[in-house]
Amino acid sequence: MSIEQIRVGSDNFSYLIYDINTRKAALVDPGYDTTKAVDVLAEKKLELLYIINTHFHSDHTAANQQIKKAVPTAQVVASAIDGKKLNIPVDRIVSDSEILHIGEIMLTILVTPGHTSGGICIIVDNVALLTGDTLFIGDCGRTDLPGGNLKDMFNTLKEKILPLPDHLIVYPGHDYGEKPFDTLGNQKQSNKTLRAKTMEEFSRIP
Ligand SMILES: [Fe+2]
Repeated sequence: MSIEQIRVGSDNFSYLIYDINTRKAALVDPGYDTTKAVDVLAEKKLELLYIINTHFHSDHTAANQQIKKAVPTAQVVASAIDGKKLNIPVDRIVSDSEILHIGEIMLTILVTPGHTSGGICIIVDNVALLTGDTLFIGDCGRTDLPGGNLKDMFNTLKEKILPLPDHLIVYPGHDYGEKPFDTLGNQKQSNKTLRAKTMEEFSRIP
């Protein structure tokens, strides 16, 4: 299993996940531009199965049409709620705990409301956790943008993210932290938003 972290624009990250044995791939969050992702697909002769949107915000989804045009057979994937707000028709709606396969790779979908009401995170093979704008290195996503909710974010972090194993590598949707990725274990120790014990404490984080 390989994950390529692709910087798009100033601080957005796209992720190309692929299985080199079967040459199947998925692109998570096209961002503004998929030129680099398309180059990697061609260079490694990969078949793109899925274009997965972690949430509907345009900085993650602007190039949906660009990649769909390049690979018309790839299915656009999103949650039911955020899928309704996407800039492109959704081919496959995913729910919490649903599993997608890319060759030998298993993707487990977690519906993680807070930044948007239908945002998702993706566990890749018990190795990595792609967090979109739910969790950044050192912080969590904003809850004051369209679709955001502070209480939902607190519950998502407590109930969905904290119970996950420490060895997962967190790959966020933006390069906002002191490093581009980190283990979830380190984040549980150092990320103020994961350390907040109560909603009251969480709401006071600047
Ligand atoms: Fe966002």
